[in-house]
Amino acid sequence: MNPSDLFGDAPHPEPVARVAELRRVLLEHAHRYYVLDEPSIPDAEYDRLMHELHNLEQAHPSLRSPDSPTQRVGGQALDAFAQVRHAKPMLSIRTETDTTPQGAIAFDARIRKELALAPDDDPVEYVAELKFDGLAMSLRYEQGLLAQAATRGDGEVGEDVTSNIRTMKSIPLRLRSDARTVPEVLEVRGEVYIRRDDFAALNERQRARIAAGLKNEKTFVNPRNAAAGAVRQLDPGIAAERPLRFFAYGLGEVSGAGTPDWQHHFEILRDLKDWGFPVASQAECVKGAEGLADFHSRMGQARDALPFDIDGVVYKVNRLDWQRQLGFLTREPRWAVAHKYPAQEQMTRVLDIEIQVGRTGKLTPVAKLSPVFVGGVTVTNATLHNEEEARRKDVRIGDMVVVRRAGDVIPEVVSVVLEQRSPEVSESVPFDIYRRLQGRCPICQSEIVREPGEVDWRCDGGLFCPAQRKQALLHFAQRRAMDIEDLGDKLVDQLVDASVVRTLPDLYRMGFAHLVALDRMAEKSANNVLRSLEKSKQTTLPRFLFGLGIRHVGEATARDLARHFGSLEALMAAEEDQLLQVPDVGPVVAQSLRLFFAEAHNREVIEQLQSCGVRWENLEPSAGAHLPLAGKTYVLTGTLPTLSREAAKEMLEQVGAKVAGSVSKKTTAVIAGAEAGSKLDKATELGIPVLDESGLYALLGQQPPSSL
Ligand code: IVH
Repeated sequence: MNPSDLFGDAPHPEPVARVAELRRVLLEHAHRYYVLDEPSIPDAEYDRLMHELHNLEQAHPSLRSPDSPTQRVGGQALDAFAQVRHAKPMLSIRTETDTTPQGAIAFDARIRKELALAPDDDPVEYVAELKFDGLAMSLRYEQGLLAQAATRGDGEVGEDVTSNIRTMKSIPLRLRSDARTVPEVLEVRGEVYIRRDDFAALNERQRARIAAGLKNEKTFVNPRNAAAGAVRQLDPGIAAERPLRFFAYGLGEVSGAGTPDWQHHFEILRDLKDWGFPVASQAECVKGAEGLADFHSRMGQARDALPFDIDGVVYKVNRLDWQRQLGFLTREPRWAVAHKYPAQEQMTRVLDIEIQVGRTGKLTPVAKLSPVFVGGVTVTNATLHNEEEARRKDVRIGDMVVVRRAGDVIPEVVSVVLEQRSPEVSESVPFDIYRRLQGRCPICQSEIVREPGEVDWRCDGGLFCPAQRKQALLHFAQRRAMDIEDLGDKLVDQLVDASVVRTLPDLYRMGFAHLVALDRMAEKSANNVLRSLEKSKQTTLPRFLFGLGIRHVGEATARDLARHFGSLEALMAAEEDQLLQVPDVGPVVAQSLRLFFAEAHNREVIEQLQSCGVRWENLEPSAGAHLPLAGKTYVLTGTLPTLSREAAKEMLEQVGAKVAGSVSKKTTAVIAGAEAGSKLDKATELGIPVLDESGLYALLGQQPPSSL
């Protein structure tokens, strides 16, 4: 059977059979999702099937049934946890699936109509929030103490997960009451989630456990799923190991003495923050449809850079009397709506599996996909990481797969939709790099090798391999290395394929004639390339060193090495024990440096680059004199008036400081610009000094540019 017959868009000739089929499929997926925490299709696909069922039931009322999946909101309580009846139901929220500004305009128009506002009445004030992609949680505080934590379940009855939630550091066990009194009963509603970086680390750890032969371990398909799994762990010890976090966004029951007389939703958020709950700093009061659409678009742009997943934004009428007036429609409040962004997971078919050769010869299996719009872009390739991952997921050519693109991470194949695998695909063999390539690099035919204990296969051809050569050139030319602006991947492909450039020095040896002879190269572009090459010749030792592409020598290590030795000559002459004295240089890096410089070919490349005119200034070998901020750690947040974050980071690192991504007790100071968010809050909370841009200049002993 062709799977698209079951899942495709074509109207089914037989609604009775289709409705039955959809119910069966949806119930199965709901069970996997809510009970097993192992979804096999993306949410977007689930929603689409649910939508189709809903439409069929609307069109054919005789087919409606109380046990249809359309009649249930949310999940089903598990037997393993005690059931909790929510004092106030946990509502769901109407979803605006039109991801254009029209979604905001339509909501505002509905609200104005329901409130019978005239066109010349003031714009309605809304609170615009992020829609976190985690799981809803209700936290009940009695006399200021956490009494119970419950999942949403079906909205009326959830599960008592108090012992797991108690392990979460971001949830107060006692409300902070120094600022104000606390109500006798306070139910806080919010979202439990896992940050993207924590999720990546968690999966990394899971992979190591699987590799170590631990049974019953698995990787997680996405942060939300990992969070859901952790919250419903029967062993709180395991739940405690999972990096769960919480954002508060609303209330359930609030009663008894100390209940504030709130007039606006925004005041509730403020008080939640005062009582010690994390409230996302992005929440804003905005006016009218315009304010909503603007928020939707700004957050859409910020989405990739957020440390956690969101699947949209939520708009709420700010005035609570209006909220009461607007009321509810079954389980959904009329005063709120979720306005979506394009989904970050979609289903598509694997057309082929290619094996790409990286800069160091690493062979990476890449799935070639039927084009699919996911996470805001059209994706045609998704990484399978390595052979082990590809085998564990058992991805085969012809499979339907779930593809995920979240944040600015490269798209990856998350899982195979096994129930849609065709018999022919089932008969094919599991993925095997060596077999596929018959032991040879697909680019240069050198042998492929895998060292004992390594997961990656590599091409043994080194710089003889054009693929590695291309990657090495691109690495050298990148912004953080030699910064050769006009040398992009297309041009590098052309130059290597036409044998104009074989080695790094060849870049500086080619002339105008070589360039204009290339396909589609105008004189003006050729001149631009030559100009950016010329410009790149004046560089710094750390950039040059990083650009050489020595295995295990990243940007930070290159900087440390340059600082420690001061000159390339000193570094090249260093013995292993001298190398080991550099911060963060261990035996693996030291060995890799020794091997690199021992190779006559590499030394020749360096000499030739110098004779082509590549220059850098040597540094004073570090005795600490030029590193007044060595040992200090700074965190940058918000937008500085004139400096980019990169520039500020570089300035700090040049004088020995470390720049970290998050605030902790070890942070020396936070440099904050406009719209600084939670990092600034955290600094204030921990009593860590906060500087602005002029403070940064002062710290560096420099004059700010005159415009400041
Ligand atoms: S308010 C008023 N605000 O979205 C209705 N919900 O169907 C109560 N969610 O699973 C929800 N971010 O956990 C609200 N800023 C936010 C939210 C949010 C995520 C989730 C919620 C629930 C679903 C609502």
